[in-house]
Amino acid sequence: MKKSSEIIISLKDINKSFPLELGGEQQVLFDINFTVKAGEFVAIMGPSGSGKSTCMNIIGALDTPTSGVYELYGNDVTGLSTDELALVRNEYIGFVFQQFNLLPKRSVLDNVMLPLMYRGMTHDERERRAREMLKRVGLENFESYLPTQLSGGMKQRVAIARALAGEPKLILADEPTGALDSKMGNEILKFFKELNKDLGITIVMITHEFDIAKYADRLIHIRDGKINYDGKIPKNDNNL
Ligand SMILES: Nc1ncnc2c1ncn2[C@@H]1O[C@H](COP(=O)(O)OP(=O)(O)OP(=O)(O)O)[C@@H](O)[C@H]1O
Ligand SMILES: [Mg+2]
Repeated sequence: MKKSSEIIISLKDINKSFPLELGGEQQVLFDINFTVKAGEFVAIMGPSGSGKSTCMNIIGALDTPTSGVYELYGNDVTGLSTDELALVRNEYIGFVFQQFNLLPKRSVLDNVMLPLMYRGMTHDERERRAREMLKRVGLENFESYLPTQLSGGMKQRVAIARALAGEPKLILADEPTGALDSKMGNEILKFFKELNKDLGITIVMITHEFDIAKYADRLIHIRDGKINYDGKIPKNDNNL
C-alpha cells in the first residue's frame, strides 16, 4: 500500500474548452488546482453542467486538458498517446459509471474477467481473480447470469467487481448510485467506504447530492467550472 502522504493525483491550472459547432469554443473548466493523496476518499460535487464529468474524464486519462499540467502517480499524462493513456488507465484505475457499462450479452463472470485481458494473465488466473472479486461483492452465485437478469444494485456490484479485479490503486466513480434506489445506493456507498478504509484504495466519487458526498472525507465543490470549496465535509450544504 502507498504511503498516505503520497500525492497520486495532481491538477495544476487545468483549463478545458470544447469547440462549438458554429465556431469558437466553450470553456468548461477554469484554472482547476487540487491534489489527492493515496488513501483519500474525495467527493466532487456540483450542479448539473458544472464540469464534474469533464474533470473526472481528465483525472481518468479519458480526455486531456486544453492547458495546465495533470500528473498521475508523478507522471505527466498530458503528452501521452491514446495507447499510452489506455495502458495508464488499465494499470492504475478502476472505473464505476452511473449506467454500469456492462456488456449485456456476456455473463457476469466474463464481464469481470474482461479487463484482465491486458494483464498478461492466463485464462485460469483471470477466472480465479474474477471469482474472488464476485465473492467480495456477494455475487458468487450469479457468475453465469447475464447483466439483464440482475437488479440495478447487483449490476453496480458487478461493475465494482470488474473495477476491483485489476487491483486498482484508484477508483473513479461518476454518479455510481445515480441509477439506484436509496437503499441499494447506500449499500454501494458503504462498500466504497470499506474499500477505502480496509484496502486503502483511493476513491474519487462524483455526485450532485450532498447526502452522497457525505460518505467521503473531503468535498471538492465545483460551480461553473471553478472550485468554490475544498475541504472537510461541511455540516450542511447551505454555503456551497
Ligand atoms: N465532449 C463535449 N463536447 C462539447 N461540450 C461538452 C463535452 N462534454 C461536456 N461538455 C459541456 O461541458 C459542460 C459541463 O459538462 P459536464 O458533463 O462536465 O457536467 P457535469 O457537471 O458532469 O453535469 P451532470 O451533473 O449533468 O452530469 C456542459 O456545458 C457540457 O455541454
Ligand atoms: Mg456528469
